[in-house]
Amino acid sequence: MARICVVGLGYVGVVTGAIFAEMGHHVVAVDVIPEKVDALNAGESSIYEPGLDELLKDCVPARFNASMDMVAAVADSDITFLCVGTPSTTDGGQDTSYLEASSKSLGEAIAAKGEYHVVVVKSTVLPGTTDTLVKGGLEAAGITCGEDFGLAMNPEFLREGSAVQDAREPDRVVIGGFDQRSIDETAELYVGIGCPFVETDLRTAEMIKYASNSFLATKISFANELSRLCEAVGIDVYEVMDGIALDNRIKRSFLNAGMGFGGSCFPKDVRALVSLANSLNLDSALLSAVLDVNRSQPLHGVDLLEAANGTLAGKRIAILGLAFKGNTDDVRETRALPVAEELKKRGAVVVGYDPEAAENFKAMFPDIEIVGSIHEALTCANGCIIQAEWDEFRELSADDVDVMADKVVVDGRRIVEDVDGLEESGAIYIGIGLGSIE
Ligand SMILES: NC(=O)c1ccc[n+]([C@@H]2O[C@H](COP(=O)([O-])OP(=O)(O)OC[C@H]3O[C@@H](n4cnc5c(N)ncnc54)[C@H](O)[C@@H]3O)[C@@H](O)[C@H]2O)c1
Repeated sequence: MARICVVGLGYVGVVTGAIFAEMGHHVVAVDVIPEKVDALNAGESSIYEPGLDELLKDCVPARFNASMDMVAAVADSDITFLCVGTPSTTDGGQDTSYLEASSKSLGEAIAAKGEYHVVVVKSTVLPGTTDTLVKGGLEAAGITCGEDFGLAMNPEFLREGSAVQDAREPDRVVIGGFDQRSIDETAELYVGIGCPFVETDLRTAEMIKYASNSFLATKISFANELSRLCEAVGIDVYEVMDGIALDNRIKRSFLNAGMGFGGSCFPKDVRALVSLANSLNLDSALLSAVLDVNRSQPLHGVDLLEAANGTLAGKRIAILGLAFKGNTDDVRETRALPVAEELKKRGAVVVGYDPEAAENFKAMFPDIEIVGSIHEALTCANGCIIQAEWDEFRELSADDVDVMADKVVVDGRRIVEDVDGLEESGAIYIGIGLGSIE
């Protein structure tokens, strides 16, 4: 079994480390935040992800540990995965500062060890980043790529909310390499995972990740744009998408109209690709439009609520679901933020509920009253917007909405199961993309 180092204990690093440990490898993770290192060593995850706590219980400390000491971690391993964040810069580009810093300290650790080591970039990085910035950062320590260390790019496709399952059973493993040895030594870790492998060069591997996320984001914005047309002409966009998905060239997934896409990946990755195109004087009309639709979709949800309420000024409005989607505590680029901001702008009093993400959201948007249940959120509310698809919102019932001052429900994710029950209780139910001819 291999000895693996994982740099970065975020959503990707902790899940990657845990899955490798589950496969029997020995994993040490390095982070610069002591609380994350301590939590991992106590067998606890610093993020919410279904199934992760159980997994950590099984493999910490026997096969999975954390440390702040990069030199010691590299000395105890043969291959290192870089899983640090690559957020957006203010102009939509890629912030590579964490990657640059971690590449440099990793290079020094490999030099100190004095033995061949493979470096694998798992962070999402624009084409050309691994063979310039990362390679350069490592070589700054006086070591040479291909001789002292191998270099591979292995993009991650897990989805928050189902990350453990996705990492256990990926659709494919993509490995780009500086040379064949780097590819082979990375691929060896995945032996036993029964999915297609794509072996390629570093830049193609980097681009596969961006192309994948941009395509999925395009599907979502396509569904959202069509949903507004469908609403206007009295058609249910979900029925339309079910209809087109019967064509086997089109898959049904990611065609659900909603409040738009958020999270730490789609918005920043599409923005980064647009920014790359701009820097090369290339047109990015399609991807720019994908972002435009995504910007306006949450505001459309607020418009629907306002149309039903008359005005939002002075109204108490509940946002159900503050995370960027259900089953996660991640609020990065959550659509709840533009919704909350817009509600405030229109004079509403905003109350929010989320089973896991409330604290994170409050830290980002303090001007909100956070409550601990659907019941508290809806009590005396003049309307609500379902923003994230938590299971408990699927079961929204006549009893739940009975406590509202005005029973107006905007289902921004089209998840409510008993719509008839709500309507029979006198509630106004407005589903995104659900046109009605009246
Ligand atoms: N979150 C996802 O669903 C997802 C999915 C696929 C790919 N990705 C990509 O994976 C990368 C990581 O994403 P994430 O969501 O896990 O990020 P994250 O921000 O949750 O975690 C990054 C971690 O790296 C640590 N770190 C930063 N600099 C460091 C250094 N010099 N040494 C050691 N640790 C350091 C941070 O403290 C943090 O714990 C990003 O490029 C992202 O685009 C994310």
